[in-house]
Amino acid sequence: MVDWNEWHKNYADPDSEISSRLLAVRRLLAGALERAPSPATVISLCSGDGRDIRVLLAERPNLRVHARLVEFDDRLVAAGRSALAATGTEGIEFVQADAADMQNYADMAPADVLLIAGIFGNITDEDVFNTIDHSSQLVKPGGSVLWTRGRRSPDLTPAIRERFAEAGFEQVEFVAPPDMVFTVGCHRFVGAGQPLTVHDHLFTFIR
Ligand SMILES: C[S@@+](CC[C@H](N)C(=O)[O-])C[C@H]1O[C@@H](n2cnc3c(N)ncnc32)[C@H](O)[C@@H]1O
Repeated sequence: MVDWNEWHKNYADPDSEISSRLLAVRRLLAGALERAPSPATVISLCSGDGRDIRVLLAERPNLRVHARLVEFDDRLVAAGRSALAATGTEGIEFVQADAADMQNYADMAPADVLLIAGIFGNITDEDVFNTIDHSSQLVKPGGSVLWTRGRRSPDLTPAIRERFAEAGFEQVEFVAPPDMVFTVGCHRFVGAGQPLTVHDHLFTFIR
């Protein structure tokens, strides 16, 4: 299985694909927060050390949030919390838990923004679609979901975009640089809100 703490060290290279993806996530996240009421409620599944939203807020203190970042790895949670303390960034809480467990969101959902970064390439296709189907419970009507997925064969991104459409989301932007494998999608929820099925489990990592 992947050591996710080690994996985060790839971000140290600013020319890496993962660093380019991070910049795209931050840009789309900024747009989603600008469209949302302030402070915006944000749920981040498998947040790692939270460097997408954490750094964005440190750079753009006008963006105010009430964010819950759910991450399993205690080292990444500790790193994220100490970085928050160092910058004095407010409004972000880390929860060390299984992000696939819907109970983590019972008092937060539906949120203005749902972040699903670094998950869809690490779970089965069935779990990808299960997570998309549950997004309509986690996002408010008018709110945004952001997701990432690589395009290595077989490219699942067309089916992911179609499934979001079927779940009531319209595409805002799809970032897919021709010279890189990563993609980042942003969709707005235009459907009707759904009650939270708190005992459901969204996915299991297979890497
Ligand atoms: C590819 S990394 C992505 C991290 C972050 N979202 C990013 O884009 O930088 C996947 C993360 O999911 C975490 N993870 C894996 N399974 C998890 C679970 N069931 N609940 C919470 N976190 C999980 C890993 O520890 C790792 O930090």
